[in-house]
Amino acid sequence: MPTMKALTIASPGATPQIASDIPIPMPGPGQILVKTSYVAINPVDTTMSTYGAMVQSWPFTPGCDAAGTIVALGPDALSAWGTAWVEGERVFGCTRLGAQGYAAWAEYFLFDAALCFHVPSNFDMAQAASTGVGLLTASLGAFAGLGVDILDAEDMPEKDARGEWALVFGGAGSVGQFAMQVLSVAGFSVVATSSSKSFELLESLGAVETIDYKLPASDIVERVRSITNGKLNYAFDAVSVNDELLSSTFAALAPMTEGVRRFTTTNDWDPHPEVADTLVKPIQLGPIGQPDAVELNDNLKAMIPIMYKLLEKGVIKPSEYAVEGESIEDILKAWEVQKSGARGGRKVVVKIIEE
Ligand SMILES: NC(=O)c1ccc[n+]([C@@H]2O[C@H](COP(=O)([O-])OP(=O)(O)OC[C@H]3O[C@@H](n4cnc5c(N)ncnc54)[C@H](OP(=O)(O)O)[C@@H]3O)[C@@H](O)[C@H]2O)c1
Repeated sequence: MPTMKALTIASPGATPQIASDIPIPMPGPGQILVKTSYVAINPVDTTMSTYGAMVQSWPFTPGCDAAGTIVALGPDALSAWGTAWVEGERVFGCTRLGAQGYAAWAEYFLFDAALCFHVPSNFDMAQAASTGVGLLTASLGAFAGLGVDILDAEDMPEKDARGEWALVFGGAGSVGQFAMQVLSVAGFSVVATSSSKSFELLESLGAVETIDYKLPASDIVERVRSITNGKLNYAFDAVSVNDELLSSTFAALAPMTEGVRRFTTTNDWDPHPEVADTLVKPIQLGPIGQPDAVELNDNLKAMIPIMYKLLEKGVIKPSEYAVEGESIEDILKAWEVQKSGARGGRKVVVKIIEE
């Protein structure tokens, strides 16, 4: 049986090891086998490795955000476009989490054929590897979480066409950068929080107003009130920490804002506070590809061709990235860099195999 190199973890919290004798997965029905070009590192890789969340069996190989080249096809390997994939095509996306063979911190991994993207011609492979998890999470948050009408890439609204605000907590993070862009492209005026060093980045990605999240909570609420004139129905927590701030913001705005408020959050593990007249919908990308996640998979399948077009047109831009290594072994030090937060809004990526 042909084997490959991969990073493996024996049990929750164990020290990661490099192994060279991991069997290369065989693509089954609806799967494609991909030779890894670049992988990106996400907070969920740490959560899964440390606590075992979503991990189906041990030893476990992390890695879900990646780009590479198709080297083998399973039967019925149809794309989200309904077309057959071809060996040699370049793909990216978020792989199935915690399932054998799908883990991307390896020389080869599987994608579900209907849940990955073509690499747009204006993207390099590191940009592609930096985009899957953030863009899919942001799209789910906007369309499934906030209930915004799914975009038509051929008939986009004018800038600020809705004449209403959307608040993004954490515009500098990977999910936040895409959330601001998706909401802005959907016609919202976006106000977003970040540290002050990221204001320019946020504005370049469509934020109309920026607020320093390090200000006291009462100052943030006051800034939101004054920017939005007290009218705010949509908020997206892209950093999983802002329930309390959201409650106080919506409470302060309640006398001025009419109608139902909607809040979506990347925090899908904590219970959320009840906020009057507010629909709270956490985002759950975690079950991507699982056979019983029918609604999620259908939503993603519908979003992928639209998001691809927006990437290809340059309407939605990839994150800046920092290449922190050039081998499976280098993932170990790159992971530490990602956990330290030293690269700020830049996605930490590792090159695995030269194309
Ligand atoms: N539920 C799901 O399906 C799902 C999917 C993907 C991700 N997630 C979760 O979503 C969260 C974000 O993921 P990510 O990949 O976008 O993370 P990330 O890129 O690592 O986010 C880092 C950024 O967060 C910003 N930040 C930290 N605390 C903040 C605060 N209180 N207010 C505003 N900004 C703050 C930092 O900004 P500065 O650099 O300016 O300090 C930093 O740029 C993680 O907890 C992740 O596990 C959930």
